[in-house]
Amino acid sequence: MTESHAGAARPVGVFDSGVGGLSILRSLRAQLPAESFVYLADAGFAPYGERGDAFVIERTRAVVRQLRDVHEIKALVIACNTATAAAVHLVRTEHPDLPLVGVEPALKPAVALSRTRRIGVMATRGTVNSGKLRALHDSLKDQAEFILQPCDGLADAIQNHDTAKINALCEQYTEAMAPWGGLPGQVDTLVLGCTHYAFAWNTLQALVGPDVRLIETGEPVARQTRRLLEAAGQAQADDAPGRVTLLTTGSQAPLEAAAHRWLGL
Ligand code: DGL
Repeated sequence: MTESHAGAARPVGVFDSGVGGLSILRSLRAQLPAESFVYLADAGFAPYGERGDAFVIERTRAVVRQLRDVHEIKALVIACNTATAAAVHLVRTEHPDLPLVGVEPALKPAVALSRTRRIGVMATRGTVNSGKLRALHDSLKDQAEFILQPCDGLADAIQNHDTAKINALCEQYTEAMAPWGGLPGQVDTLVLGCTHYAFAWNTLQALVGPDVRLIETGEPVARQTRRLLEAAGQAQADDAPGRVTLLTTGSQAPLEAAAHRWLGL
């Protein structure tokens, strides 16, 4: 290990199938400005959402190995609901020494916010079909009605910054979950259960109307990351702003354009 990579100065790894995890990185940087981050977009193998567990598990294992072996990360944020659902338990078992945070659709916070007790959940097909989401849903289904909507193609459209397709798919999927609004019988809360969808926030809010609350997971994930780093004695004490390294298994230009567009990087 090099001197510059010793202890708390080592970066936190953040991983997604593509640009979606940048929505989590945005919150991480806001809450942990002194930390350095290595963001890895597995865009050469994206999208994950319609590929099945075995594929997502294999890719997650490869990415975690690379982040540990080459970049010496001190903690990992799996900024992808699909990879968390398929593989977080395996990563935990295989890397017991690595502080690890995953993301999952925010069903519990939605129950706390919803007045009509009707909650829409947009996620990839992989997340919707996962045992992890099923268990979470079953534990809460007495408290609210959830409309689970698999959104085939939407993460890919956001990945490719294809505005026409994003608009068409958002319209199709929100229509399928309607009626929206704050009156009894209407869906008043929308959970964004895929990190890519945070970048379609304005489009979705316009479609469902001003009375509907949208929920994404960046802030709680950043808080949990801070707690884990502090508990492990690995938080960066230095005040100097941390660095961000952007890596991808696909082409670099779209990732850099997205980081510039959404994070000002
Ligand atoms: N951003 C990912 C998630 O949160 C998945 C996108 C994809 O299908 O690759 O689920």
